[in-house]
Amino acid sequence: MISNCRVCETIIQPFMSFGKMPIANGFLDPEDFTMEYFYELKPVFCENCLTFQITEQPDPKKMFHQNYAFFSRTSKRMVSHFKSYADWIMHEYLSSPDPFVVEIGSNDGAMMENFSKNKIRHLGVEPSENVANEARKHGINTLCSFFNLTTAEKITSKYGLADALIAANVMCHIPDLHGVARGVDHLLKPKGILVFEEPYLGDMIQNTAYDQIYDEHVYIFSARSVKNIFNKHGFELIDVKKQSTHGGSMRYILARKGKRPVSPNVDRQLAYEDNINLHLQGTYDRFRERCELSRKDLVAILQQQKNAGKRVVGYAATSKSTTVLNYCGIGPDLIEFISDTTPIKQGKYTPGVHIPVRPYEDLQKCYPDGLLLFAWNHKKEVMEKESNFLDQGGEWITYVPQVSLIRK
Ligand code: SAH
Ligand code: TMP
Ligand code: ZN
Repeated sequence: MISNCRVCETIIQPFMSFGKMPIANGFLDPEDFTMEYFYELKPVFCENCLTFQITEQPDPKKMFHQNYAFFSRTSKRMVSHFKSYADWIMHEYLSSPDPFVVEIGSNDGAMMENFSKNKIRHLGVEPSENVANEARKHGINTLCSFFNLTTAEKITSKYGLADALIAANVMCHIPDLHGVARGVDHLLKPKGILVFEEPYLGDMIQNTAYDQIYDEHVYIFSARSVKNIFNKHGFELIDVKKQSTHGGSMRYILARKGKRPVSPNVDRQLAYEDNINLHLQGTYDRFRERCELSRKDLVAILQQQKNAGKRVVGYAATSKSTTVLNYCGIGPDLIEFISDTTPIKQGKYTPGVHIPVRPYEDLQKCYPDGLLLFAWNHKKEVMEKESNFLDQGGEWITYVPQVSLIRK
């Protein structure tokens, strides 16, 4: 099927289909199974503006609402990551007398808390009401809204212009990036900065981490695509900083053209991207082949475990796992349940394939033979926490960068 690039309107064609997909964070009760919403997950690489994207995305209101299932504070590592992110912003960019910082997609306030503790004027913009309320409980000034030009206008009329607009794992969620850029342009002071960090295309391709592709991630960015998109709105990519979070991310720092020096890191990153052929369609064809192989290997391992009478449980009902489970067709016949620490997911069933989600305590009570690591991006944190599992003879099953078993 042919469609138009969301950024440059060029006609583009998906390089693969992951098939019918449900809402990645749409955990549900059995009475809702028959009404479940599905769309077709098809990734595309636009050779004109070099933006990786998906062609179909459910209406954002279907994903971000009063029952949004993802809470930033569930990962201790992310909480400390946001502290260092905020410290760095304060140190580098908030030198004016009474600075004002706005976060797009502030969720439960894990990042903004660091500004409020330092008595810095702040505002979180967050459309999902339940997580916005959680942030408010932590004393974070929060506007429950999608970020766009209209929201930016409301913010400036109430609070004035911002010194810094920051974000994490949200820019890639917003289909209308031109609307975001117009909002940024309206809201930022002349020398203000825009900083956001998102899963990085280079890492996704190199690690065959295809589960980064799901409804919320309408884009997977590279330095090249970010530079192209924001250039159209008078912004310049002035620095990039590689991050290890979420399985490999990139922090992008942008300012109005000519207002701040451009770091040599930018050209270095662009050269790296050319070097690993991120700009070529053939790279995505090979990625598709590796996805197909990964699916075959993962299903084979789970089938072997089942045939050997072994119990396999999933570790963490992540949004990423929705792509893996539905693409591979893995259901409750192969995975007994998925353990997750987020109360709102517990007692529900996973989107599409309907595997039960149970509290972490159920896993601790009785370790299975195998644990399938869906939270592979938190591998270090998880492995440390679950060292007893390997000691007791358990096996981890992982699938990034390739399907493998980890035993002691
Ligand atoms: N920044 C947090 C949360 C990431 S999840 C973190 O990194 O942990 C993405 C968040 O962005 C969700 O809370 C979602 O409700 C919010 N969001 C989605 N679309 C948005 C938009 N257009 N404007 C602002 N926030 C948005
Ligand atoms: P995400 O991959 O969509 O960010 O979601 C992370 C999910 O993983 C969240 O529901 C919490 C869960 N989780 C656990 O259950 N145990 C853990 O140790 C970690 C790190 C995450
Ligand atoms: Zn394009």
